[in-house]
Amino acid sequence: MSVRNRVEVMHGVNLDQLGRRPAAVYGELTYDRLQQQVEGYARDLGLQVRFFQTNAESEFVEHLHRLDGLSDAIVMNPGAWTHYAWAIRDALEIAALPTVEVHLSDVGRREEWRQLSVVRELCVATVSGEGIEGYRAALERLKEELDG
Ligand code: DQA
Repeated sequence: MSVRNRVEVMHGVNLDQLGRRPAAVYGELTYDRLQQQVEGYARDLGLQVRFFQTNAESEFVEHLHRLDGLSDAIVMNPGAWTHYAWAIRDALEIAALPTVEVHLSDVGRREEWRQLSVVRELCVATVSGEGIEGYRAALERLKEELDG
């Protein structure tokens, strides 16, 4: 059997603006820096990552539609879409790949409207509030899932 090690790292709305977002919540991290760090974590784990970011919900959905045969797992931070974009939840169900939901901030300790995650029930795990380190935890979890 071929190695299953391809992980799609998907970011949604406003995450390309890291570095311009409230530093008290998101720190100084930029999206470029985030990609470099995650690339390093993946290398350490023998995983191959590919990055995707968009501010258009339809592109995010269509990207999920296209993953069949191209990816083995997903790390997903949908940004604010997490809390209301049911079309993303349905597209994730169609993609049918092991997924970890990641949030840089601790959404559980933020505003009421951030308490709902439409994707959570489809994810093998959720990592929230660990900053960039949360991506390492997510990749480790997916590594287990893919090796298991
Ligand atoms: C976020 C949390 C969301 O509530 C918010 O809308 C974001 C980023 C995070 O990574 O902490 O854009 O997903």
